[in-house]
Formats: sequence, structure tokens, C-alpha cells
Amino acid sequence: QMAAEPVNVSEFQELARLALPKMYYDFYSGGAEDQHTLRENVEAFRRITFRPRILIDVSRVDLSTSILGYNISAPIIVAPTSLHQLAHPQGEVATAKAAATCNTIMVLSFSSSCTIEEVATSCNAVRFYQLYVLIYKRRDIAATLVQRAEKNGFKAIVLTADNPRLGRREADIKNKMISPQRKNLDGLISTKVTSDGGSNLDAFVKETMDPSLSWKDIEWLRSITKLPILIKGVLTCEDAIKAVQVGLDGIIVSNHGARQLDYSPATISVLEEVVHAVEGRVPVLMDGGIRRGTDVFKALALGAQAVLVNSTQLTLQVGRPVIYGLAAKGEYGVRRVLEMLKDEFELTMALSGCSSIKDITRRHVRTEHERLL
Ligand code: FNR
Repeated sequence: QMAAEPVNVSEFQELARLALPKMYYDFYSGGAEDQHTLRENVEAFRRITFRPRILIDVSRVDLSTSILGYNISAPIIVAPTSLHQLAHPQGEVATAKAAATCNTIMVLSFSSSCTIEEVATSCNAVRFYQLYVLIYKRRDIAATLVQRAEKNGFKAIVLTADNPRLGRREADIKNKMISPQRKNLDGLISTKVTSDGGSNLDAFVKETMDPSLSWKDIEWLRSITKLPILIKGVLTCEDAIKAVQVGLDGIIVSNHGARQLDYSPATISVLEEVVHAVEGRVPVLMDGGIRRGTDVFKALALGAQAVLVNSTQLTLQVGRPVIYGLAAKGEYGVRRVLEMLKDEFELTMALSGCSSIKDITRRHVRTEHERLL
């Protein structure tokens, strides 16, 4: 029998599973094909252990950091995830309010249930807007969305670039998962795509997304907004270097929560490669599999190795944990999930002998390979 008040993220996941129709729980929790990457995103964290230091004054532990000049209470922000109203009637408005209460940033998904305007007027959280670029010849739609985000006080654009096609999510196909209309697209494009009896997600992406989008289009995106632009979906040093070369303002290491290309590497396993390539020129963010405060610490430590880079230039995003909190307990649940991760991270810092983010170094963790040395 589980306690009514969950004590960790995985208990929130269990509550969400009980609260949601199977079709929606599967949609949120699932990954692509064999779900190898889905498991690896979490398992790869488990193979990293600590090298804690003792007898360091940790009577005060400061978790605060900043990204793109915005101060946040901890290096943990809300990743863009779609369709929050399938988890809770208040949808992204509840998520945004919880993020605001926790002094952190929410990245609003392109596929949100609530509109850009609804989220903007409901709270004063710092918000970024996640963009997908729509069908070729209708670049004006993406431009309209970006301008709406800018007008409504969003502070950055997150261009998600890892889905020219939709990954094969077999649970959604089996459940015949039908996605509701994207409200932000009302009047801009009809997304009432039907399917051949299976899920309509794949049909939606095929009919609306632009698979021809390429590096040269970044210039166009730059020309339609003054906001900083982050690129989401980088998994290699090659792409990280390109992103810096084309003048992007930040890089998000992500495999889309293992929902796109199965057998992509666990994101934590490629973070060092990307951070090395970026050499501190732009901020780096990472998401995928973060379920504990210890995971947050491990990511910061692995990203803190390069001479020019300390862990203050890294920020982590959480996707599913936020949805599980929302499904289980609405705005309060999202707040609890964010607080739990923060509290666990603070304890990890104290027990590792770090009193501020900049004290976290590469030598505070040990990867599996290093253990053999
Ligand atoms: C996502 N993700 C995502 N990313 C994005 O850029 N736009 C989107 O609309 C969505 N939608 C979405 C829905 C759901 C249900 C999930 C689980 C994920 C990916 C998301 O931003 C992030 O990369 C992952 O969720 C991070 O992994 P964890 O924290 O879920 O393990």
C-alpha cells in the first residue's frame, strides 16, 4: 500500500499511472520501438557513482544558478512536453504556476493544450517557447507563433530539431492514441488529421512538420525574432560545433525522451562530448532520464570538466516527472516534484562536500569505465 503523499518521483509516476487512462499514461511514459534508449536514459545514470569529499563546511548550500541571464533557484527547469490537459484539466497553466512558485523556467511546448496567451497571463514565470517549423511554404505559421511568444513575454525560442519524422511509438499505435487539436494552431492550420485507424500522431507530423528543415534555415529563424535561439536534440560533437558556428545561443543535449530514434545514446553518456566541443561558448542544457537529485549532480559534474566550463554553465530539464506530478496532483504535484528534485540535489551537494554549484567538478563523479582504472 503506497502512502498518499509520494516521497520521490517514481512514486509520483505510480500515482500518475493509477490516475490516468492507459492510453494517456502510455503516451506520456512510452518511448520508440524497443524502448532501449528509454531504459538507457535512466540506467546510464545508475552506472555513475560519486567521489564525495568530507570535512567541508556545508552549513549553507546554494543551489542557485542562471541561464541566459535569468536567475533560477536550482539548475532544474521544465522541459517542453505536449498536451498537459490530457494529464490535468488546468494543463500548462498549472505547470507554469508551479514553475513560477519554484523560481524556475518553463519551456512551453509547441503542442501545448493551453494557448501561449493563456499561459502568459496566468503567471510570471520566466518562459521559453519551443518551436517546430511547419510545412514548407507555410513558414509564416512558425513566424506567427514566434511573434506571439515574443509579444507575450517569452524569453527564448527552443527549436526542436530531432523530429523531421515522428519516432515509432508502438504503444500509441496499439492504443490508437488520438491527439486533440493543437489550440495554438487554431485559425492557422487545420490539424484535424485522421489516420488509418491507428494513432493520428504520425499523420499529424507528416502533414504538418517540415522534413526539409536544415541548418541554413537558422538564418531565417534569426531574421524573424530578436529572442535568443536554443537548439534541442544535439547528441554529437559534430552537431554541437555546427550549432555554435551558425550562431545559436544555446545547445540542448536531448534524445527527445527516447521517443524518436531508438538506440540513440543515453543523453548523460554524450554530455561530456558535447560540452568539450562547445568549450563554454554557449550554455548547454541536457534532458533525459533525470529522476533524482543525484542525477542532477551527476550531470553537472560530467559537464564541468573542460577548463573553460564549470557547472554553472549547465542546466537540466525534466520532462516526464513534471507530467507525473501534474497527473497525480495538479499544480501542487508539479511543485512537489520540482521541490523533491531540488531537495535531493541539495542533500547530494552537502554529502559530496559542495556548498555551491561552482564547487561541483568532474572529479566528484566516477563513470563505470573509470572504476576499472
Ligand atoms: C516530450 N518531448 C517534447 N519535446 C519537444 O521539444 N516538444 C514537445 O512537444 C515534446 N513533447 C513531449 C511529450 C512527452 C509526453 C514527453 C515524455 C516528451 C521531449 C521532452 O522535451 C524531453 O526531451 C524529454 O521528456 C526528457 O526526458 P525525460 O525527462 O522525460 O526522461
